[in-house]
Amino acid sequence: MKGIVLAGGTGSRLYPATLAASKHLIPIYDKPMIYYPLSVLMLAAIRDILVISTPEDLPLYRRLLGDGSSFGVRLSFVEQTRPEGLAQAFVLGKDFIGKENVCLILGDNIFYGNGLKVFLSKASNLKEGAEVFAFPIRDPQKFGIIEVDVNNKAISIEEKPKNPKSNLAVAGLYFYDNEVVKIVQNLKPSTRGELEITDVNKHYLENKRLVVNIVGRGIAWLDTGTHDDLIKASVFVEAVENRQGLKIACLEEIGFKNGWITKDELILSGRKMQDTDYGRYILSL
Ligand code: G1P
Repeated sequence: MKGIVLAGGTGSRLYPATLAASKHLIPIYDKPMIYYPLSVLMLAAIRDILVISTPEDLPLYRRLLGDGSSFGVRLSFVEQTRPEGLAQAFVLGKDFIGKENVCLILGDNIFYGNGLKVFLSKASNLKEGAEVFAFPIRDPQKFGIIEVDVNNKAISIEEKPKNPKSNLAVAGLYFYDNEVVKIVQNLKPSTRGELEITDVNKHYLENKRLVVNIVGRGIAWLDTGTHDDLIKASVFVEAVENRQGLKIACLEEIGFKNGWITKDELILSGRKMQDTDYGRYILSL
């Protein structure tokens, strides 16, 4: 399975912070935001990863992440010249995806918790169809909302509904079979001119090929769309990391534990950053 991190967009809801800097480079506590979605793909054992961003920002991601070898993944980069919706990732990523299945994660979504790896391994072994994750949310008007029956089977899915049929939001983490590449070719832009991921999910739902994992307590899902969200996410990560002495989204640690980098490579990364807690944490591993 291939992985895509979508880190495009103008970040207009975070102006002036993002007037000159890319949103997904903003630190969430002790590391850049994009580390968090990358860590999720790596926990799903996905090693071939495409980063999609704007032509202005892509060089910064190349500088930050290199070719991914320092944490054991293979990174590719593709420009998104105009932000035309989340589903555009599968148009831009067509050659990268090839004949494989694919997982898309939004660059501003953070997932953390016990049991996350179990969900991820199951979804990344997907043979056909699509698999998404739904979390209860207090403000359902702002998300893709899924309605389920008593057996947790999806009945309907709507993007930012005025009158939500449930409080279950579809998180920005999607697993699809290779058909997604064909589905997006026939997708019509929505009234806001975007190729909507919710329309892709609707397609799978109508064909009875959409699996919804309803996630309750125990796994945190945060997004970082506004300044308030940013500070809340940073405080959350700080609290967990400093209480437990374990890092969230330490890419070198995950790469090492997955057997993708050697002890020497781990030490090299740690030494480079040894003036920071992040670097010393790597060395302590
Ligand atoms: C997007 C999707 C929405 C999903 C959300 C998750 O919304 O369109 O369906 O629930 O991500 O973060 P956006 O962030 O573009 O408002």
